[in-house]
Amino acid sequence: ADALKIGIAGLGTVGASLAKILVERRDMLQTTCGRPIEIVAVTARTKGRDRGVDLSSAEWFDDAVSLAGKAKIDVFVELMGGAGDPAYAAVKAALSRGVHVVTANKALLAAHGVELAGIAEKHGCILNYEAAVAGGIPVIKALRESLTGNTISRVYGIMNGTCNYILTKMEKEGLSFEACLKEAQRLGYAEADPAFDIEGNDTAHKLSILTTLAFGTKIAADDIYLEGITNISIDDIRAAADLGYRIKLLGVAQKTDTGVEQRVHPTMVPLDSVIAQVDGVTNAVAIESDILGELLMVGPGAGGNATASAVLGDIADIAKSRPGAQTVPVLGRPAAALVPYKRAQ
Ligand code: HSE
Repeated sequence: ADALKIGIAGLGTVGASLAKILVERRDMLQTTCGRPIEIVAVTARTKGRDRGVDLSSAEWFDDAVSLAGKAKIDVFVELMGGAGDPAYAAVKAALSRGVHVVTANKALLAAHGVELAGIAEKHGCILNYEAAVAGGIPVIKALRESLTGNTISRVYGIMNGTCNYILTKMEKEGLSFEACLKEAQRLGYAEADPAFDIEGNDTAHKLSILTTLAFGTKIAADDIYLEGITNISIDDIRAAADLGYRIKLLGVAQKTDTGVEQRVHPTMVPLDSVIAQVDGVTNAVAIESDILGELLMVGPGAGGNATASAVLGDIADIAKSRPGAQTVPVLGRPAAALVPYKRAQ
């Protein structure tokens, strides 16, 4: 079969990991997907840097918008990040000419997800974003596919690896907040602006996407009670432990009689709960539904390989899809069927 031609915009931690895996596992992917996956176009802020992978056969573009709009590709892989342009314009440019999109960009989806889903549907494109929430954990697939037909009452969890890494290291190694954050940045976990991690915005972006998938409401990323971890001290962590608790930054979305409640804040969780045992960069997402019951997924939440693994799964889904076949609705149901978000009182 013909190769699946992909263009990658962004060769940072995640993009470089993905490119390496695609090149090194080409044969294995060809077997599992039934066709080869080829990187034919790339763009990145710095062109010359050694990323440990030979991309010389790919065409270099000056910017993401021209790559997305002009490259001869089947899939545009957006790994630049940021809610606005160039990511926003580039994703729109790809979808508008019928090119499938895979993105890890939670900020973009939180801001423009409903519009982008509408554009994808109009042009018969797949828009996959497993890596946008909880890194390598297949939570989008769970909500969008596996739990179809369930009524969901609550989704919550640890969705920011950087914060969980900081809280864990402060407790177990007695290191300062700043030292832990520096280490998380060095390991490639943190956002380009780490304020998004520690102030809770990144968790809020991810939560807003899960809320939409769980409850069928339009994305409402600005309507979230938000408190980050910048005020948590080692003394707070010790005091919580004395009382039998651990402090975790949780995102919680639940249905009440009056609407949907969304919040992000440091939470005391009982030491004997599973979520209290989730350490370091690991994430955990719990989904409560009526047919299945409680599902708890725990796994790597950030970093090059964990995130690249989810991106790769999304690309493989497209490689295996048949042209013109019915696709899974981007946000779990057609964009036009999403209902307005109503905040619980
Ligand atoms: N900065 C994010 C985190 C990356 O730490 O979880 C993964 O989305």
